This record gives sequence, C-alpha cells and structure tokens, in this order.
Amino acid sequence: MNEMLVSRIDEPRYKSVNRQTSPAGPAALHIRSSEQISKESGLPSAVSQPVTAPLTRAAIFLVATINSGKASEAAVRALCGDLAALQRAVGFRDLEGRLSCVMAFGSNAWDRLFGTPKPKDLHPFREIHGRHHAVSTPGDILFHIRATRMDLCFELATQLLSRLGGAVSTVDEVHGFNYFDDRDLIGFVDGTENPVDQAALNATIIGGEDAAFAGGSYVIVQKYLHDLNGWNALPIEEQEKIIGRTKLSDIELDDAVKPTSAHNALTTIIEDGEQLEIVRDNMPFGEIGKGEFGTYFIGYARSPGRIEQMLENMFIGRPPGNYDRLLDFSRAVTGTLFFVPSATFLENVAPESGSPSMGVQTSKDPEAPGKGQSHSSPGDGSLGIGSLKKEAGNE
Ligand code: HEM
Repeated sequence: MNEMLVSRIDEPRYKSVNRQTSPAGPAALHIRSSEQISKESGLPSAVSQPVTAPLTRAAIFLVATINSGKASEAAVRALCGDLAALQRAVGFRDLEGRLSCVMAFGSNAWDRLFGTPKPKDLHPFREIHGRHHAVSTPGDILFHIRATRMDLCFELATQLLSRLGGAVSTVDEVHGFNYFDDRDLIGFVDGTENPVDQAALNATIIGGEDAAFAGGSYVIVQKYLHDLNGWNALPIEEQEKIIGRTKLSDIELDDAVKPTSAHNALTTIIEDGEQLEIVRDNMPFGEIGKGEFGTYFIGYARSPGRIEQMLENMFIGRPPGNYDRLLDFSRAVTGTLFFVPSATFLENVAPESGSPSMGVQTSKDPEAPGKGQSHSSPGDGSLGIGSLKKEAGNE
C-alpha cells in the first residue's frame, strides 16, 4: 500500500483574501508528515481534520443517519480510513480548488461505531425552549465539504455517498454559496470576528483536557430559514441594532448605541476575563422558487458548552427575556451536535467494531492544543499535508 493520509490543515483565515485570491497554488503546498510536525513542535502526533480550513466560495453540508444493522456500521467504519484517499483523489484534480472535508459523528453513532472511550462532552444536541425554539434533529454523520468550486464539493459528496451506498440515509443536504462580500442573505457580512491562526486553533482543537481525543473538536450545525420580507421591511438602523454592526461597512456598533440584545453581544462570552471563542463557517443557501432563503450555521469549538451557552443567550436571553431579535426573522429548522475526531483517529479505524487504539501522546499543557506549531496544524500558511500511512513504513 502506498497510501498517504492527506489532511489539509489550517491556513490563516483571512476570509476575503482567501476567497478572492486563492494564493495557494501547487507551489505553496508543503508536504509535512505528522511526525515532522510533532518533532518540530514537541507536541502530539495526532493530526486534526481541517476544522479551521480557510473559508471558501462553496460548501456542502451533508447530514446522514446510519441505517440499522452491523453491515451499515461496518461500511461507515470502512469509509473512515479511506476518507483521506477519496478527498485526495478528487482534490488533486484541482489543487487550487482547496477541497477539504471534515467528517464528524453524533453521540448515538459514536456508541454504535466506536463504543468506549467516548469524547467526554459528546451528547445529543439539547433543544432549547426559550422565546424561540432551537430544535434537535437526527444526525449520525456530518460531512462538511468545502472548496473554491462547487463541482469539487459535489464530486466528493457523490463519491462519499456512493461508497456508503445503503448504509446511510441522508437526512439533510445543503449546498451553500458565497454571497457577495461574505454576506449572509440578510445582507450583513458574516464571519468578521472569527478567530484566526493560533487563536482559531486554541478555540477549536482539544488539548489535554480530554487527552484520549486530543486533536479532535466539536461542531454544532443549525439550518436557519429567514423571513426575508419581514427582515427587509425593517429600517436598516434597526437591523444594525439587531446584529450589532453596520450593514454596509461592517463596523461594530459603539457600546453606547449597541443594545445588550444585539446578536454579537449575546454571542460574546467572557469567562475569567477571557473570551470563549468559536470558529464559524456559515453559508447562505436557498431555493428561490420555494421562497426559501437561509443561513447554514456551523460552529466549531473545543468544547460544545460555549456554543450551547451562546444558543441559550440567543434563544432564552441574557438575562432571560433579553433574547436575540434575529430569531424573530430566522427560524432554526435543524440542530445537531457532532464530534470531529482527529484525522489520525479516522485513519486508524478498522472495519471491525471497537475504538481504534491510538497510542497518541498528548500535550502536557491542557490550555495549549495548538501552541506553537500545533499537532493539529503547521500554522505556517501551508496546507500541511501529513502522511501517516507513509510514516508507518507502508510506502
Ligand atoms: C441565522 C443565523 C445566523 C446569522 C445570520 C448570523 C450572522 C452573524 C453576523 C452577521 C455576525 C457579525 C459579523 C461577524 O462577526 O461574523 C455574527 C457574529 C457572530 N455570531 Fe452569528 N449568525 C447566526 C447564528 C449564530 C449562532 C447560532 C451562533 C452561536 C451559537 C452565532 C455566533 C456568532 C458569534 C460568536 C459571532 C461573533 C461575535 C463577536 O465576537 O463579535 N451566530 N453572526
């Protein structure tokens, strides 16, 4: 076997630059093994999935449930080890297309596929009944596929589902597109305050706090449908107060005028003087003929608790009643929580049942999942391609 695990890892997350200029041509590719990364960094050799991959022009969000029976479970497990090869096969057709794919698992699926140990904060998405309702909907597997071209996303999604055949049922499929200057369909620039570089790794990648799953991450997805007529009927100043930023120039409102119910106020969480951040890669989607205009929310974090806290602030309010008015115009129709194991974990999944034996060392510093040259990311602007099977002497 001459298979390489390819993991496209983090690049600086300067949204518009990445989307519009796509600087990484083949010459910009660095081939770095996880061994190299861990030698340079002195950190664990678990390679993360491309959670903080640069924002792209196109994305497919595929949520599926695993059908009953051991054969279905075996088919999903078999795909885990081949995911990188499939991604590489499709992505190599246009390296500048920056194809990436994150595969994640819901709580029930984890129990069925891998049993114990289990990531310590993995549980089904908890619905929230506040002023508005955050629904919890089924989902065993999430594929978050990103590229600068939809055809690359489409091809990979097709390959993945044809590999899985009758083992899974797709419960939601959303094709997202980039809308003008990174705006969502309500007209505001979305993603501005995302952490970048090391801060993005710190926000998303598990370190020593769950040593067996270092290099992993959590992700929550929610599909929102907008009442665009209602929204567009609001004066722009009112819209700006709901979001907390100006619409055209995307400047944050001064605290003197920004309501405490503004979206960006309720989603700012400070704990012990430190902001608990997440990485979002929301995408617009829709079907004009059906009058469907939406935002697919996707948020990655090293702990689901911080995303859940943001949701409570939005849906119930902080303090209760002081809820996010964006929800008067945007309705969550799905809601699912998944765990994103490291690429190393996926690579080691065998078709038979049981959790792969990882033997991955973990960082001694629980606060520093990605400190310096992280185990999860070269953090140097390269695509950070790691070759695990190659390292194992399988060339
Ligand atoms: C209809 C769905 C949503 C839309 C249209 C939306 C839109 C926006 C916009 C326009 C901004 C300001 C620009 C920016 O910093 O990105 C923003 C900020 C933010 N949103 Fe959302 N959002 C949605 C749902 C959510 C949800 C469900 C969460 C978390 C559970 C969330 C978390 C955040 C965070 C953390 C910020 C940055 C706050 C800051 O530090 O300033 N958003 N969102």
